[in-house]
Amino acid sequence: QVPRTGGPSTLAFPELTHQLAQTDSVAEGHEVQVVMRWGDAVLAGAPAFDPARQTPDAQARQFGQNNDFLAFMPLPRGSNGSDHGLLWVNHEYCSTGSMFPGLPAGNSAIRAAKTELQARTEMMAHGGSVVEIQRKDGKWAPVPGGAMNRRITASTPMRISGPAAGHERMKTSADPNGTQVLGMLNNCAGGTTPWGTVLTCEENFNTYFGGEAARTGAQAAAYRRYGIQPASPNAWERFELRFNLDREPNEPNRFGWVVEIDPFDPNSTPIKRTALGRFKHEGCTQAMAPDGRVVFYMGDDEMNDYVYRFVTARPFNRENPAANRDLLDEGTLSVARLEDDGKLVWMPLVFGEGPLTAANNFASQADVLIETRRAADLLGATPMDRPEDVEANPVNGRVYVMLTNNARRAADRLNAANPRPRNIHGHVVEIIPPGAGTPRVDHAANEARWEMFLMAGKPGIDAGARYHRATSENGWLSCPDNCTFDSKGRIWIATDGAPSAAGVADAVYAADTSGAGRGLTRLFYQTVVGAEVCGPCFTPDDTTLFLAIQHPAEGSSYENPSTRWPDFDPALPARSSVIAIVKKGGGAVGS
Ligand code: FEO
Ligand code: CA
Ligand code: CA
Ligand code: CA
Repeated sequence: QVPRTGGPSTLAFPELTHQLAQTDSVAEGHEVQVVMRWGDAVLAGAPAFDPARQTPDAQARQFGQNNDFLAFMPLPRGSNGSDHGLLWVNHEYCSTGSMFPGLPAGNSAIRAAKTELQARTEMMAHGGSVVEIQRKDGKWAPVPGGAMNRRITASTPMRISGPAAGHERMKTSADPNGTQVLGMLNNCAGGTTPWGTVLTCEENFNTYFGGEAARTGAQAAAYRRYGIQPASPNAWERFELRFNLDREPNEPNRFGWVVEIDPFDPNSTPIKRTALGRFKHEGCTQAMAPDGRVVFYMGDDEMNDYVYRFVTARPFNRENPAANRDLLDEGTLSVARLEDDGKLVWMPLVFGEGPLTAANNFASQADVLIETRRAADLLGATPMDRPEDVEANPVNGRVYVMLTNNARRAADRLNAANPRPRNIHGHVVEIIPPGAGTPRVDHAANEARWEMFLMAGKPGIDAGARYHRATSENGWLSCPDNCTFDSKGRIWIATDGAPSAAGVADAVYAADTSGAGRGLTRLFYQTVVGAEVCGPCFTPDDTTLFLAIQHPAEGSSYENPSTRWPDFDPALPARSSVIAIVKKGGGAVGS
Protein backbone atom coordinates (compact mmCIF):
# COMPACT_ATOMS: atom_id res chain seq x y z
CA GLN A 1 0.00 0.00 0.00
CA VAL A 2 1.60 3.29 -1.12
CA PRO A 3 0.77 6.54 0.67
CA ARG A 4 -1.57 9.03 -1.04
CA THR A 5 0.90 11.89 -0.66
CA GLY A 6 4.09 12.57 1.15
CA GLY A 7 7.35 10.76 0.72
CA PRO A 8 10.74 12.43 0.90
CA SER A 9 10.16 15.06 -1.84
CA THR A 10 11.31 18.69 -1.88
CA LEU A 11 8.13 19.45 -3.88
CA ALA A 12 5.57 20.76 -1.44
CA PHE A 13 2.39 20.92 -3.55
CA PRO A 14 -0.51 18.61 -2.67
CA GLU A 15 -0.86 16.00 -5.36
CA LEU A 16 -3.90 15.82 -7.66
CA THR A 17 -6.09 12.76 -8.17
CA HIS A 18 -5.93 11.17 -11.65
CA GLN A 19 -8.92 12.00 -13.85
CA LEU A 20 -9.97 12.34 -17.50
CA ALA A 21 -12.38 15.27 -17.80
CA GLN A 22 -13.60 18.22 -19.89
CA THR A 23 -11.74 20.65 -17.62
CA ASP A 24 -8.14 20.76 -16.50
CA SER A 25 -6.87 20.91 -12.93
CA VAL A 26 -3.76 22.09 -11.13
CA ALA A 27 -2.37 21.45 -7.67
CA GLU A 28 -4.08 23.45 -4.93
CA GLY A 29 -2.56 26.87 -4.37
CA HIS A 30 -1.90 27.39 -8.09
CA GLU A 31 -3.81 29.10 -10.87
CA VAL A 32 -4.12 28.45 -14.63
CA GLN A 33 -4.14 31.50 -16.94
CA VAL A 34 -4.91 31.14 -20.65
CA VAL A 35 -2.36 33.26 -22.56
CA MET A 36 -2.87 32.53 -26.29
CA ARG A 37 -5.47 30.44 -28.11
CA TRP A 38 -5.57 29.12 -31.67
CA GLY A 39 -7.07 31.98 -33.74
CA ASP A 40 -6.06 34.85 -31.42
CA ALA A 41 -4.51 37.89 -33.13
CA VAL A 42 -0.72 37.80 -33.52
CA LEU A 43 -0.15 40.40 -36.24
CA ALA A 44 -1.71 43.82 -36.64
CA GLY A 45 -4.93 43.67 -38.63
CA ALA A 46 -5.69 40.06 -37.77
CA PRO A 47 -9.46 39.54 -37.91
CA ALA A 48 -11.34 38.14 -34.93
CA PHE A 49 -11.39 34.32 -34.83
CA ASP A 50 -14.40 33.01 -36.73
CA PRO A 51 -14.22 29.22 -36.85
CA ALA A 52 -17.10 28.90 -39.31
CA ARG A 53 -15.34 31.14 -41.87
CA GLN A 54 -11.63 30.32 -41.66
CA THR A 55 -9.39 31.61 -44.44
CA PRO A 56 -5.68 31.30 -45.18
CA ASP A 57 -5.33 35.08 -45.04
CA ALA A 58 -6.86 35.33 -41.56
CA GLN A 59 -4.97 32.32 -40.24
CA ALA A 60 -1.65 33.71 -41.49
CA ARG A 61 -2.08 36.60 -39.03
CA GLN A 62 -3.60 34.60 -36.18
CA PHE A 63 -2.10 32.17 -33.67
CA GLY A 64 -1.67 28.80 -35.41
CA GLN A 65 -3.06 25.43 -34.39
CA ASN A 66 -1.69 22.70 -32.14
CA ASN A 67 0.92 24.62 -30.16
CA ASP A 68 3.84 22.46 -29.03
CA PHE A 69 7.36 23.67 -28.05
CA LEU A 70 7.56 26.92 -26.05
CA ALA A 71 10.53 29.15 -25.31
CA PHE A 72 10.29 32.21 -23.07
CA MET A 73 12.92 34.77 -24.15
CA PRO A 74 13.12 37.64 -21.62
CA LEU A 75 12.96 41.27 -22.76
CA PRO A 76 15.09 43.27 -23.01
CA ARG A 77 17.13 40.75 -25.00
CA GLY A 78 19.79 39.05 -22.93
CA SER A 79 18.21 40.00 -19.61
CA ASN A 80 17.05 37.50 -17.01
CA GLY A 81 13.62 39.05 -16.41
CA SER A 82 10.51 37.03 -15.64
CA ASP A 83 7.65 39.48 -16.25
CA HIS A 84 8.10 40.46 -19.90
CA GLY A 85 9.39 38.59 -22.91
CA LEU A 86 8.87 36.94 -26.26
CA LEU A 87 7.11 33.62 -26.33
CA TRP A 88 8.23 31.39 -29.19
CA VAL A 89 5.57 28.78 -30.01
CA ASN A 90 5.67 25.83 -32.45
CA HIS A 91 2.49 25.01 -34.37
CA GLU A 92 3.03 21.35 -35.11
CA TYR A 93 0.11 20.17 -37.24
CA CYS A 94 -3.66 20.47 -37.73
CA SER A 95 -6.40 18.35 -36.19
CA THR A 96 -8.47 18.63 -39.36
CA GLY A 97 -11.54 16.73 -38.10
CA SER A 98 -12.06 19.01 -35.11
CA MET A 99 -10.79 22.16 -36.87
CA PHE A 100 -13.41 22.68 -39.61
CA PRO A 101 -17.18 22.24 -39.49
CA GLY A 102 -18.93 19.82 -41.82
CA LEU A 103 -16.27 17.18 -42.34
CA PRO A 104 -17.14 13.47 -42.40
CA ALA A 105 -15.83 11.05 -39.78
CA GLY A 106 -12.71 8.98 -40.35
CA ASN A 107 -9.28 9.94 -41.62
CA SER A 108 -9.64 8.69 -45.19
CA ALA A 109 -13.06 10.37 -45.58
CA ILE A 110 -11.61 13.64 -44.22
CA ARG A 111 -8.70 13.33 -46.63
CA ALA A 112 -11.06 12.92 -49.58
CA ALA A 113 -13.41 15.71 -48.49
CA LYS A 114 -10.74 18.32 -47.72
CA THR A 115 -11.11 21.45 -49.89
CA GLU A 116 -8.33 23.63 -51.24
CA LEU A 117 -9.42 26.47 -48.94
CA GLN A 118 -9.11 24.15 -45.95
CA ALA A 119 -5.72 22.81 -47.05
CA ARG A 120 -4.37 26.32 -47.56
CA THR A 121 -5.77 27.42 -44.20
CA GLU A 122 -3.96 24.46 -42.64
CA MET A 123 -0.71 25.55 -44.30
CA MET A 124 -1.05 28.91 -42.57
CA ALA A 125 -1.94 27.26 -39.23
CA HIS A 126 1.44 25.44 -39.26
CA GLY A 127 4.87 26.81 -38.36
CA GLY A 128 5.39 29.04 -35.37
CA SER A 129 4.50 32.29 -33.63
CA VAL A 130 6.46 34.96 -31.83
CA VAL A 131 4.23 36.75 -29.33
CA GLU A 132 5.30 39.49 -26.94
CA ILE A 133 3.78 38.78 -23.52
CA GLN A 134 3.80 40.58 -20.21
CA ARG A 135 2.72 39.94 -16.61
CA LYS A 136 0.74 42.77 -15.04
CA ASP A 137 -0.94 42.53 -11.63
CA GLY A 138 -0.11 38.84 -11.60
CA LYS A 139 -1.79 38.09 -14.97
CA TRP A 140 0.01 37.06 -18.15
CA ALA A 141 -1.36 38.50 -21.41
CA PRO A 142 -0.13 39.28 -24.93
CA VAL A 143 1.08 42.85 -25.47
CA PRO A 144 -1.24 44.35 -28.12
CA GLY A 145 0.65 45.17 -31.32
CA GLY A 146 3.92 43.61 -30.10
CA ALA A 147 6.59 45.00 -32.44
CA MET A 148 8.45 41.68 -32.72
CA ASN A 149 5.33 39.56 -33.20
CA ARG A 150 5.62 37.22 -36.14
CA ARG A 151 3.97 34.29 -37.83
CA ILE A 152 6.02 31.62 -39.57
CA THR A 153 3.97 29.31 -41.81
CA ALA A 154 4.34 26.50 -44.34
CA SER A 155 5.19 29.13 -46.95
CA THR A 156 7.69 31.42 -45.15
CA PRO A 157 10.92 31.68 -47.22
CA MET A 158 13.84 29.96 -45.48
CA ARG A 159 17.51 29.46 -46.25
CA ILE A 160 19.17 26.03 -46.32
CA SER A 161 22.69 26.01 -44.88
CA GLY A 162 25.36 23.50 -43.92
CA PRO A 163 26.79 20.51 -45.80
CA ALA A 164 23.55 19.51 -47.61
CA ALA A 165 22.85 23.02 -48.97
CA GLY A 166 23.08 23.08 -52.75
CA HIS A 167 23.33 19.29 -53.09
CA GLU A 168 21.72 17.71 -56.18
CA ARG A 169 19.08 16.02 -54.02
CA MET A 170 18.07 19.39 -52.50
CA LYS A 171 17.26 21.02 -55.88
CA THR A 172 13.72 21.56 -57.18
CA SER A 173 12.22 23.36 -60.16
CA ALA A 174 11.41 26.35 -57.93
CA ASP A 175 14.89 26.31 -56.38
CA PRO A 176 17.51 25.12 -58.91
CA ASN A 177 20.28 26.00 -56.43
CA GLY A 178 18.96 23.86 -53.58
CA THR A 179 19.39 26.64 -51.01
CA GLN A 180 15.93 28.19 -50.54
CA VAL A 181 12.79 26.48 -49.29
CA LEU A 182 9.27 27.57 -48.43
CA GLY A 183 8.15 26.87 -44.88
CA MET A 184 8.70 24.32 -42.17
CA LEU A 185 6.43 21.39 -41.34
CA ASN A 186 5.35 19.51 -38.24
CA ASN A 187 7.59 21.40 -35.83
CA CYS A 188 7.23 19.46 -32.62
CA ALA A 189 9.67 20.36 -29.87
CA GLY A 190 12.81 22.49 -29.99
CA GLY A 191 15.37 24.34 -27.95
CA THR A 192 17.36 27.53 -27.69
CA THR A 193 20.99 28.50 -28.24
CA PRO A 194 23.41 30.31 -25.90
CA TRP A 195 23.39 33.16 -28.45
CA GLY A 196 19.65 33.75 -28.06
CA THR A 197 18.05 32.10 -31.07
CA VAL A 198 15.36 29.42 -31.17
CA LEU A 199 15.76 25.93 -32.64
CA THR A 200 12.48 24.53 -33.94
CA CYS A 201 12.43 20.96 -35.17
CA GLU A 202 10.61 19.32 -38.07
CA GLU A 203 9.16 15.98 -36.99
CA ASN A 204 6.56 14.01 -39.03
CA PHE A 205 7.29 15.78 -42.34
CA ASN A 206 6.53 12.56 -44.20
CA THR A 207 2.78 13.12 -43.75
CA TYR A 208 2.70 16.02 -46.25
CA PHE A 209 4.14 14.29 -49.35
CA GLY A 210 2.47 11.82 -51.68
CA GLY A 211 2.74 10.31 -55.14
CA GLU A 212 3.34 7.07 -56.99
CA ALA A 213 7.10 7.71 -56.66
CA ALA A 214 6.80 6.64 -53.02
CA ARG A 215 6.47 3.11 -54.45
CA THR A 216 8.40 3.26 -57.71
CA GLY A 217 10.61 6.38 -57.76
CA ALA A 218 14.40 6.46 -57.77
CA GLN A 219 14.36 7.53 -54.09
CA ALA A 220 11.61 5.12 -52.97
CA ALA A 221 13.82 3.30 -50.47
CA ALA A 222 14.89 6.59 -48.88
CA TYR A 223 11.28 7.79 -48.73
CA ARG A 224 10.29 4.52 -47.07
CA ARG A 225 12.86 4.88 -44.28
CA TYR A 226 11.07 8.14 -43.36
CA GLY A 227 7.54 6.77 -43.77
CA ILE A 228 6.49 8.64 -46.92
CA GLN A 229 3.47 6.96 -48.54
CA PRO A 230 1.77 7.21 -51.97
CA ALA A 231 -1.23 9.04 -50.45
CA SER A 232 -0.26 11.48 -47.69
CA PRO A 233 -2.46 11.78 -44.58
CA ASN A 234 -2.65 15.57 -45.10
CA ALA A 235 -3.50 15.39 -48.82
CA TRP A 236 -1.72 18.67 -49.59
CA GLU A 237 -0.27 17.08 -52.73
CA ARG A 238 -3.75 17.42 -54.23
CA PHE A 239 -3.46 21.22 -54.08
CA GLU A 240 0.21 22.18 -54.28
CA LEU A 241 2.53 20.51 -56.79
CA ARG A 242 5.64 20.66 -54.65
CA PHE A 243 4.06 18.17 -52.25
CA ASN A 244 3.60 15.72 -55.16
CA LEU A 245 6.60 13.39 -55.33
CA ASP A 246 5.96 12.66 -58.99
CA ARG A 247 6.49 16.34 -59.81
CA GLU A 248 9.11 17.30 -57.21
CA PRO A 249 10.92 14.18 -56.00
CA ASN A 250 13.47 16.21 -54.01
CA GLU A 251 11.05 18.45 -52.09
CA PRO A 252 10.81 16.08 -49.07
CA ASN A 253 14.61 16.13 -48.74
CA ARG A 254 14.23 19.79 -47.79
CA PHE A 255 12.18 18.91 -44.68
CA GLY A 256 13.08 17.00 -41.52
CA TRP A 257 15.68 19.51 -40.32
CA VAL A 258 16.40 21.72 -37.32
CA VAL A 259 15.44 25.33 -38.12
CA GLU A 260 17.19 28.26 -36.42
CA ILE A 261 15.16 31.46 -35.98
CA ASP A 262 16.05 34.79 -34.38
CA PRO A 263 12.80 35.72 -32.61
CA PHE A 264 14.06 39.23 -31.81
CA ASP A 265 14.29 40.18 -35.51
CA PRO A 266 10.94 39.81 -37.29
CA ASN A 267 12.68 40.32 -40.65
CA SER A 268 15.29 37.59 -40.15
CA THR A 269 15.29 34.61 -42.51
CA PRO A 270 14.84 31.24 -40.77
CA ILE A 271 17.70 28.84 -41.53
CA LYS A 272 17.52 25.06 -41.91
CA ARG A 273 20.77 23.78 -40.38
CA THR A 274 21.53 20.56 -42.25
CA ALA A 275 24.64 19.70 -40.21
CA LEU A 276 22.28 18.53 -37.42
CA GLY A 277 20.87 15.72 -39.55
CA ARG A 278 17.57 14.82 -41.13
CA PHE A 279 15.11 12.71 -39.18
CA LYS A 280 11.86 13.08 -37.27
CA HIS A 281 13.32 15.63 -34.92
CA GLU A 282 11.62 16.03 -31.58
CA GLY A 283 13.73 18.65 -29.80
CA CYS A 284 17.23 20.09 -29.92
CA THR A 285 18.47 21.20 -26.52
CA GLN A 286 21.70 22.88 -25.51
CA ALA A 287 24.51 21.99 -23.14
CA MET A 288 28.05 23.38 -22.90
CA ALA A 289 31.31 21.44 -23.05
CA PRO A 290 34.10 22.60 -20.70
CA ASP A 291 36.04 24.03 -23.68
CA GLY A 292 33.09 26.19 -24.78
CA ARG A 293 31.90 24.04 -27.66
CA VAL A 294 28.12 23.84 -27.67
CA VAL A 295 26.41 20.44 -27.54
CA PHE A 296 22.88 19.78 -28.74
CA TYR A 297 20.90 16.67 -27.79
CA MET A 298 18.21 15.37 -30.14
CA GLY A 299 15.70 12.51 -30.37
CA ASP A 300 14.30 10.87 -33.51
CA ASP A 301 10.70 10.14 -32.56
CA GLU A 302 9.95 6.82 -34.20
CA MET A 303 9.67 3.35 -32.78
CA ASN A 304 13.16 1.78 -32.84
CA ASP A 305 14.96 4.97 -33.90
CA TYR A 306 17.81 6.75 -32.24
CA VAL A 307 19.24 9.39 -29.91
CA TYR A 308 21.63 11.91 -31.50
CA ARG A 309 24.06 14.63 -30.45
CA PHE A 310 25.71 17.50 -32.33
CA VAL A 311 28.90 19.17 -31.10
CA THR A 312 29.92 22.47 -32.71
CA ALA A 313 33.41 22.59 -34.21
CA ARG A 314 34.14 25.97 -32.67
CA PRO A 315 33.48 27.31 -29.13
CA PHE A 316 30.74 29.76 -28.26
CA ASN A 317 32.02 33.34 -28.23
CA ARG A 318 30.42 35.32 -25.42
CA GLU A 319 32.09 38.61 -26.36
CA ASN A 320 31.38 38.64 -30.09
CA PRO A 321 27.80 37.57 -30.93
CA ALA A 322 28.47 37.74 -34.69
CA ALA A 323 31.04 34.93 -34.32
CA ASN A 324 28.26 32.55 -33.26
CA ARG A 325 26.03 33.23 -36.23
CA ASP A 326 26.92 30.10 -38.21
CA LEU A 327 28.20 27.90 -35.39
CA LEU A 328 25.57 25.31 -36.32
CA ASP A 329 26.97 24.76 -39.82
CA GLU A 330 30.15 23.03 -38.69
CA GLY A 331 30.51 20.25 -36.18
CA THR A 332 30.06 16.55 -35.52
CA LEU A 333 26.75 14.72 -35.54
CA SER A 334 26.80 11.45 -33.59
CA VAL A 335 24.34 8.71 -32.76
CA ALA A 336 24.16 6.78 -29.49
CA ARG A 337 24.90 3.13 -28.78
CA LEU A 338 23.72 2.19 -25.28
CA GLU A 339 25.49 -0.97 -24.22
CA ASP A 340 23.97 -3.45 -21.79
CA ASP A 341 26.72 -2.86 -19.21
CA GLY A 342 25.77 0.82 -18.79
CA LYS A 343 28.28 2.30 -21.23
CA LEU A 344 27.15 4.77 -23.89
CA VAL A 345 29.22 5.41 -27.01
CA TRP A 346 28.67 8.41 -29.32
CA MET A 347 29.37 7.27 -32.89
CA PRO A 348 30.20 10.08 -35.36
CA LEU A 349 28.26 10.20 -38.65
CA VAL A 350 31.13 11.28 -40.87
CA PHE A 351 31.34 10.59 -44.60
CA GLY A 352 34.28 8.34 -45.47
CA GLU A 353 34.49 6.76 -42.02
CA GLY A 354 33.47 3.14 -41.36
CA PRO A 355 30.55 2.08 -43.55
CA LEU A 356 29.66 5.64 -44.64
CA THR A 357 31.37 5.37 -48.01
CA ALA A 358 30.62 4.83 -51.70
CA ALA A 359 30.26 1.10 -50.96
CA ASN A 360 26.97 2.05 -49.29
CA ASN A 361 26.03 4.75 -51.81
CA PHE A 362 27.23 7.73 -49.81
CA ALA A 363 29.22 10.16 -51.99
CA SER A 364 29.48 13.07 -49.55
CA GLN A 365 28.55 14.35 -46.08
CA ALA A 366 25.41 15.74 -47.72
CA ASP A 367 24.33 12.18 -48.57
CA VAL A 368 25.02 11.09 -44.99
CA LEU A 369 22.87 13.94 -43.65
CA ILE A 370 19.97 13.58 -46.12
CA GLU A 371 19.79 9.90 -45.16
CA THR A 372 20.82 10.26 -41.51
CA ARG A 373 18.68 7.30 -40.47
CA ARG A 374 20.29 4.88 -42.94
CA ALA A 375 23.76 6.08 -41.91
CA ALA A 376 22.89 5.49 -38.24
CA ASP A 377 21.48 2.02 -39.08
CA LEU A 378 24.83 1.11 -40.65
CA LEU A 379 26.75 2.23 -37.55
CA GLY A 380 24.69 -0.06 -35.31
CA ALA A 381 22.99 2.59 -33.18
CA THR A 382 20.70 1.35 -30.38
CA PRO A 383 17.02 1.21 -31.43
CA MET A 384 15.07 3.08 -28.76
CA ASP A 385 11.43 3.24 -27.66
CA ARG A 386 10.60 6.52 -29.49
CA PRO A 387 13.07 9.18 -28.29
CA GLU A 388 11.24 12.45 -27.61
CA ASP A 389 12.88 15.21 -25.53
CA VAL A 390 16.54 14.72 -24.61
CA GLU A 391 17.53 17.45 -22.15
CA ALA A 392 20.50 18.19 -19.94
CA ASN A 393 19.75 19.03 -16.32
CA PRO A 394 21.73 22.23 -15.69
CA VAL A 395 22.12 21.40 -11.98
CA ASN A 396 23.31 17.76 -11.90
CA GLY A 397 24.72 17.59 -15.44
CA ARG A 398 22.81 14.43 -16.34
CA VAL A 399 20.85 14.17 -19.57
CA TYR A 400 17.28 12.87 -19.49
CA VAL A 401 15.89 10.89 -22.43
CA MET A 402 12.09 10.70 -22.67
CA LEU A 403 11.20 7.38 -24.34
CA THR A 404 7.50 7.78 -24.91
CA ASN A 405 6.45 4.18 -25.80
CA ASN A 406 6.96 1.43 -28.35
CA ALA A 407 4.12 -1.01 -28.84
CA ARG A 408 6.24 -2.71 -31.50
CA ARG A 409 9.18 -3.53 -29.24
CA ALA A 410 9.55 -7.23 -29.89
CA ALA A 411 10.29 -9.63 -27.05
CA ASP A 412 13.32 -10.96 -28.91
CA ARG A 413 14.71 -7.46 -29.66
CA LEU A 414 15.15 -6.15 -26.12
CA ASN A 415 18.24 -4.36 -24.82
CA ALA A 416 19.05 -3.16 -21.32
CA ALA A 417 18.08 0.44 -22.14
CA ASN A 418 14.78 -0.70 -23.72
CA PRO A 419 14.02 -3.76 -21.62
CA ARG A 420 10.26 -4.13 -21.93
CA PRO A 421 8.40 -5.93 -24.74
CA ARG A 422 5.35 -4.10 -26.16
CA ASN A 423 6.29 -1.01 -24.12
CA ILE A 424 3.04 1.00 -24.19
CA HIS A 425 3.93 3.30 -21.23
CA GLY A 426 7.53 4.29 -22.03
CA HIS A 427 10.41 5.08 -19.69
CA VAL A 428 13.09 7.66 -18.90
CA VAL A 429 16.82 6.99 -19.30
CA GLU A 430 19.54 9.15 -17.75
CA ILE A 431 22.79 9.75 -19.62
CA ILE A 432 25.67 10.54 -17.27
CA PRO A 433 28.53 12.33 -19.06
CA PRO A 434 32.00 12.32 -17.47
CA GLY A 435 32.12 14.98 -14.74
CA ALA A 436 28.34 15.03 -14.14
CA GLY A 437 27.76 16.40 -10.65
CA THR A 438 30.87 18.61 -10.86
CA PRO A 439 31.21 22.05 -12.49
CA ARG A 440 33.03 20.46 -15.48
CA VAL A 441 30.51 18.19 -17.22
CA ASP A 442 31.98 16.90 -20.48
CA HIS A 443 28.94 16.78 -22.76
CA ALA A 444 31.33 16.47 -25.73
CA ALA A 445 33.10 13.31 -24.49
CA ASN A 446 32.96 10.29 -26.79
CA GLU A 447 31.64 8.04 -24.04
CA ALA A 448 29.24 8.34 -21.12
CA ARG A 449 27.34 6.06 -18.74
CA TRP A 450 23.59 5.53 -18.71
CA GLU A 451 21.05 4.51 -16.04
CA MET A 452 17.33 3.85 -15.90
CA PHE A 453 15.49 6.77 -14.18
CA LEU A 454 11.98 5.33 -14.19
CA MET A 455 9.82 2.81 -16.03
CA ALA A 456 6.32 4.20 -16.60
CA GLY A 457 2.92 2.53 -16.15
CA LYS A 458 0.94 1.70 -13.05
CA PRO A 459 3.02 0.01 -10.33
CA GLY A 460 1.66 -3.39 -9.43
CA ILE A 461 -0.47 -3.54 -12.59
CA ASP A 462 1.89 -2.94 -15.52
CA ALA A 463 4.74 -5.37 -15.81
CA GLY A 464 8.09 -3.69 -15.38
CA ALA A 465 6.79 -0.37 -13.95
CA ARG A 466 9.53 0.94 -11.67
CA TYR A 467 9.49 4.09 -9.52
CA HIS A 468 10.66 5.48 -6.21
CA ARG A 469 9.04 3.20 -3.63
CA ALA A 470 7.06 6.09 -2.08
CA THR A 471 5.31 6.99 -5.36
CA SER A 472 1.62 7.51 -4.63
CA GLU A 473 -1.35 6.02 -6.49
CA ASN A 474 -1.51 9.32 -8.44
CA GLY A 475 2.20 9.85 -8.91
CA TRP A 476 2.72 7.19 -11.57
CA LEU A 477 2.69 8.31 -15.21
CA SER A 478 2.42 7.02 -18.75
CA CYS A 479 4.02 8.17 -22.04
CA PRO A 480 6.66 10.78 -21.05
CA ASP A 481 7.21 13.22 -23.95
CA ASN A 482 8.63 16.64 -23.05
CA CYS A 483 10.54 17.71 -19.97
CA THR A 484 12.13 20.73 -18.40
CA PHE A 485 14.01 21.61 -15.21
CA ASP A 486 13.40 24.29 -12.63
CA SER A 487 16.38 26.22 -11.26
CA LYS A 488 16.75 23.66 -8.44
CA GLY A 489 17.29 20.92 -11.05
CA ARG A 490 13.97 19.17 -10.43
CA ILE A 491 12.47 17.52 -13.49
CA TRP A 492 9.00 18.39 -14.82
CA ILE A 493 7.67 15.76 -17.22
CA ALA A 494 4.76 16.32 -19.64
CA THR A 495 2.97 13.31 -21.11
CA ASP A 496 1.36 12.45 -24.48
CA GLY A 497 -0.76 9.34 -24.86
CA ALA A 498 -1.75 8.51 -21.29
CA PRO A 499 -5.52 8.47 -22.03
CA SER A 500 -5.26 5.57 -24.48
CA ALA A 501 -2.40 3.78 -22.70
CA ALA A 502 -3.58 4.17 -19.10
CA GLY A 503 -7.07 5.77 -19.06
CA VAL A 504 -5.88 8.94 -17.32
CA ALA A 505 -5.43 12.49 -18.66
CA ASP A 506 -2.13 13.68 -20.06
CA ALA A 507 -0.43 15.63 -17.33
CA VAL A 508 2.64 17.19 -15.77
CA TYR A 509 4.56 15.33 -13.05
CA ALA A 510 7.47 16.75 -11.06
CA ALA A 511 10.28 14.94 -9.26
CA ASP A 512 13.58 15.55 -7.55
CA THR A 513 16.57 14.25 -9.49
CA SER A 514 18.84 13.87 -6.48
CA GLY A 515 18.54 13.25 -2.76
CA ALA A 516 16.04 11.04 -0.96
CA GLY A 517 13.21 12.07 -3.31
CA ARG A 518 15.12 11.26 -6.50
CA GLY A 519 12.62 9.94 -9.05
CA LEU A 520 9.57 10.38 -6.80
CA THR A 521 7.12 11.72 -9.41
CA ARG A 522 4.12 13.73 -8.23
CA LEU A 523 1.01 14.74 -10.24
CA PHE A 524 0.95 18.55 -10.57
CA TYR A 525 -1.32 19.44 -13.52
CA GLN A 526 -3.67 17.42 -15.70
CA THR A 527 -5.19 18.53 -18.95
CA VAL A 528 -8.50 17.95 -20.72
CA VAL A 529 -9.86 15.03 -22.69
CA GLY A 530 -8.27 14.57 -26.12
CA ALA A 531 -5.28 16.81 -25.34
CA GLU A 532 -1.61 16.25 -24.69
CA VAL A 533 0.68 18.53 -22.68
CA CYS A 534 3.69 20.02 -24.48
CA GLY A 535 6.32 22.71 -24.18
CA PRO A 536 6.92 22.93 -20.41
CA CYS A 537 8.98 26.05 -19.83
CA PHE A 538 9.75 28.10 -16.68
CA THR A 539 10.47 31.79 -16.39
CA PRO A 540 14.04 32.27 -15.09
CA ASP A 541 12.72 32.86 -11.54
CA ASP A 542 10.50 29.70 -11.53
CA THR A 543 7.37 31.77 -10.75
CA THR A 544 5.60 30.77 -13.99
CA LEU A 545 5.35 27.44 -15.76
CA PHE A 546 4.17 27.83 -19.36
CA LEU A 547 2.52 24.82 -21.01
CA ALA A 548 1.19 24.22 -24.52
CA ILE A 549 -2.06 22.29 -24.45
CA GLN A 550 -2.30 20.55 -27.80
CA HIS A 551 -5.27 19.04 -29.67
CA PRO A 552 -7.99 19.29 -26.97
CA ALA A 553 -11.04 17.23 -28.04
CA GLU A 554 -9.00 15.32 -30.62
CA GLY A 555 -10.76 12.19 -31.75
CA SER A 556 -14.17 13.86 -31.63
CA SER A 557 -15.87 15.98 -34.30
CA TYR A 558 -16.14 19.75 -34.70
CA GLU A 559 -19.91 19.53 -34.21
CA ASN A 560 -19.77 17.25 -31.19
CA PRO A 561 -16.48 17.87 -29.39
CA SER A 562 -15.52 15.95 -26.27
CA THR A 563 -14.68 19.32 -24.65
CA ARG A 564 -14.96 23.00 -25.62
CA TRP A 565 -11.96 23.97 -23.49
CA PRO A 566 -10.84 26.69 -22.86
CA ASP A 567 -13.80 28.93 -23.77
CA PHE A 568 -16.71 26.56 -23.10
CA ASP A 569 -18.70 28.67 -25.59
CA PRO A 570 -21.19 26.63 -27.64
CA ALA A 571 -20.22 28.72 -30.70
CA LEU A 572 -16.52 27.83 -30.41
CA PRO A 573 -14.61 24.58 -30.86
CA ALA A 574 -11.95 23.40 -28.43
CA ARG A 575 -8.79 25.42 -29.03
CA SER A 576 -5.17 24.44 -28.52
CA SER A 577 -3.80 27.12 -26.17
CA VAL A 578 -0.77 28.23 -24.22
CA ILE A 579 -1.37 28.45 -20.48
CA ALA A 580 0.65 30.00 -17.67
CA ILE A 581 0.58 28.34 -14.25
CA VAL A 582 1.46 30.58 -11.32
CA LYS A 583 1.35 30.20 -7.58
CA LYS A 584 -1.45 32.18 -5.96
CA GLY A 585 0.12 35.01 -4.01
CA GLY A 586 3.46 34.55 -5.81
CA GLY A 587 6.48 32.32 -5.32
CA ALA A 588 8.07 29.44 -7.16
CA VAL A 589 5.68 27.05 -8.89
CA GLY A 590 5.41 23.77 -6.98
CA SER A 591 7.02 25.16 -3.84
FE1 FEO B 1 5.25 15.45 -32.04
FE2 FEO B 1 7.36 13.39 -30.87
O1 FEO B 1 5.84 14.30 -30.64
CA1 CA C 1 1.97 16.27 -30.57
CA1 CA D 1 6.38 15.64 -28.68
CA1 CA E 1 4.51 12.61 -28.64
